[in-house]
Parts: sequence; structure tokens; C-alpha cells
Amino acid sequence: MILLIFTCSGCGNRHPEMKEALHVGVVTYTQGDPFINAMTDKLKENLKSMETEDMKIIVSVKNGKDDQQAQNETVEEMIDAGCDVLCINLVDRTVPSRIIKLAKQNHIPVIFFNREPVREDLLQWEELYYVGCDAEQSGIMEGEIAADYIKDHPEVDKNQDGKIQYVLLEGEAGHQDTISRTDYSVKTLIEEGVQLEKLSYQFADWNRGQAENRMTRLISQYEDGIELVISNNDEMALGAVEAYRKSEYVPSKWPVIFGIDGLDSALEAVKSGEMQGTVYNDKEEQALEMARLSLEIFRGENVYRNQLKEGRYYVSQYQRVDSSNVDDFLKH
Ligand code: BGC
Ligand code: CA
Repeated sequence: MILLIFTCSGCGNRHPEMKEALHVGVVTYTQGDPFINAMTDKLKENLKSMETEDMKIIVSVKNGKDDQQAQNETVEEMIDAGCDVLCINLVDRTVPSRIIKLAKQNHIPVIFFNREPVREDLLQWEELYYVGCDAEQSGIMEGEIAADYIKDHPEVDKNQDGKIQYVLLEGEAGHQDTISRTDYSVKTLIEEGVQLEKLSYQFADWNRGQAENRMTRLISQYEDGIELVISNNDEMALGAVEAYRKSEYVPSKWPVIFGIDGLDSALEAVKSGEMQGTVYNDKEEQALEMARLSLEIFRGENVYRNQLKEGRYYVSQYQRVDSSNVDDFLKH
């Protein structure tokens, strides 16, 4: 009885020292993805900066250990611990149904990000949102920067056979960005009139180390015959750079290398000439949007929600980066 009175005297707004609290649960697909980690750090910063005198914001970040089942369990624990909004970066974007079911039962809105559930899944409940980009746009932009560079630099065609011998490094199979970036970067280069000759496509799961291994093998196979490396992201492009650094070839024998994301280390590589371009994946903007939506959902407001495409999609715009504008991005 005493405990009950004590507990109740601690809640409600009569006590100015008691703050209202928003609990945001963030679950990424893995622990070791630099792009995702940079975006999550920004999200935490943004949420913290939105705290007010009378509202505390508590953010817990966990990861799904590359296992959808493990991620489902983590989400369940977060719901049990009492979170108000979930931000989910799915392990397998094709099977969000368990998370959707749990969220709906407990009435916890979900903002999916970066790994896009298919449309039918997102339409399962009105409190499901998606913050991400248009994958096709990044592929087109990567193809455009590469085509522009090749047209301006005939020496890219090292053996002067009129064709550009290329290698493509792919992210995880089944990821919307892998599929569209692979497709549209190559299509765009061809549409721009670049004659391509495919040497090899290699999956390297977004990962720098895996890409370095794949590239090292390709270098021993094709020697200095690779003229262009198109990578689905910067981490893998940097893996290719690393493989060439360790190879017997001097930089003038290297291929041109293009990535996507605009991570700091890739921007540095564009600046130093080890990479020729990237496409900025605006993690700051996506993180800010997730923070704004989380707060709005909690407060029952609709300013940002009203601007979403179909009431649920936020589509961040990619930007082209090459040596002409890389300094603008390095200042970020
Ligand atoms: C990024 C990759 C990242 C992946 C994770 C992509 O949008 O470009 O760097 O590894 O998302 O899902
Ligand atoms: Ca050639």
C-alpha cells in the first residue's frame, strides 16, 4: 500500500521534476557497417539535441547480428522494456512480418530505414514508415560521373582498344541498393555511349575486407587489364583501392574507381585521386528525418508526416561527388 502511494505520487505532471520521456529503440542489421554506424550516431545526436526542459529522450541502439531471428528477439525485448518508437534497419528486408506484427499488437510505430521492406509489407499498418533513398538514382548518378570522367580522360582505356574493361563490386544479394545500383550504373554508362567489356561481377557484401580479397584475386587474374571498378558502395571501393596499394602496380596503372555513400575516407580518396568519384548518400538528412518523425509520432503531430510520400515514405536525394566539388562535402 505504501509502495503504491509512493509510486503514484511520482507520476503525472504535478511534479515539475518528473520529465516526460520518449524512448526510441534503434536496431541495425549488423554491428560493423560504417555507413549505418555513422547514420545511427547522427540519429542519436539529433534526438539528444531535441530534448527539452520537460522531455527527456532515451535512445537505445542494438544490432541484429546479421540474423533476422536474432533481430526479431531484440525488437521484442525493446518492446517489453517499454519503447515508444522503433527505428529498424532490417537484416532481411523481405521478412519484416514478425516485427510488424509485434509492433502492431503493442502499438509501437516503426520507422524502417535504409533496407526497404516491400510495399505490401509497409502497407500492412498505418504506423509504418520508411526513410531512405531512391536506389535507382544512385546507380544513374554513379554511371554519369564515371561516363563523364571516361569521356574527359581517354587514357582510362589503357590498352586503347576502344572498350573499357570493367569489374563490378556488388553489395549483399537481395538488397534494393545492390540490385538497382548494379543495373543502373552499367545501363547509364552504356546510354552515355561508353563501350564496356565486362570482366567480372563479385559480391562483397558491402564490406571493405571482402572487396579487397576479391580484387586481389582479380588483379592476379587480369593483371593490369582492369580499367574501371564500379562499386555499389564506398567501403568496397576502398577495398579495391587497398588491393591496388598492395599490388605491384604504380597508380598510373590503376583503374578508375567509383563508389557510393560519400563516407569521409572515400571523400579523402577522391581528393587524393585514388578514387575518381562517389555519390553522396545523405546520412545526416536521413538521421534528422528519423529523429523528427520519432518526436512527432510521440507527440501526435503531423508537420513532417504530412510531407511524406503516400504518408509513409521519405526519399532523400543523392548528390554527385567528384574532384570538382569534393571539398564542399569534406566540410560536412
Ligand atoms: C549503403 C551501404 C550500406 C548498406 C547497408 C547502403 O545504402 O550504401 O554502404 O552497407 O546500405 O544496408
Ligand atoms: Ca580498354
